[in-house]
Amino acid sequence: MTIIAPSLLSADPGRFREEIQAMEAAGADWLHIDVMDGHFAPNLTFGPWMLEMAKKATSLPLDAHLMTSDPLKYGPVFAKAGADYVTVHIEATPHLDRCLNAIAEAGAKPGVALNPATAVSLLDSCLSLPQLFLIMGVNPGFSGQPYIPSTADKARRLRALLESRDLSPLVSVDGGVNYKNAFSLTSAGADVLVSGSVLFQEKDYKAAIGRLRAEASGIV
Ligand code: DX5
Ligand code: ZN
Repeated sequence: MTIIAPSLLSADPGRFREEIQAMEAAGADWLHIDVMDGHFAPNLTFGPWMLEMAKKATSLPLDAHLMTSDPLKYGPVFAKAGADYVTVHIEATPHLDRCLNAIAEAGAKPGVALNPATAVSLLDSCLSLPQLFLIMGVNPGFSGQPYIPSTADKARRLRALLESRDLSPLVSVDGGVNYKNAFSLTSAGADVLVSGSVLFQEKDYKAAIGRLRAEASGIV
């Protein structure tokens, strides 16, 4: 079954705690927390405080997505703040292996993210350590951007590469996920769908998650 991970970037900032609890009650599987430093990505968002707060507010797994220039420094910080998964961008560090090990040592599952223009083949030498791979469906920075249609093919190429090595980490797609493209993404091998604007713009979160889950499974 597809893991549905609402992105708190689209939540009402004055009501984070209530939004987290509403998404949990509505059937979310994980919560996705987008960390941007104004340098790697053109926006400023959450610090480790958000993980600490969310950890107290929910028992859902917390999926931290670091769009930051110094993941070796901050990856372990977010692991210690309570993230279950800490995903860093391959474009952000010359020391990816060191960074993933540091995150694991700090107690979180390490993940690797790829920007839309980054080739799957770059992952060739770092396939076994990550427990999650995140394929961006938009350029990092903002919720509500249009989906880049080549994303599903990219997820398919990644899944094939992983299978050729007998590896089965989670594959996540983040950015521009909607009701229309959900099934193409899960058919391509995505296990996790991150969604910001599509879920949070609905009044009824339970119905929105149910619809995305149904579309992802292809039963509608
Ligand atoms: C983009 C973030 C995404 C974003 C998703 O930089 O990584 O998680 O919030 O939002 P939507 O689903 O609206 O594209
Ligand atoms: Zn994200």
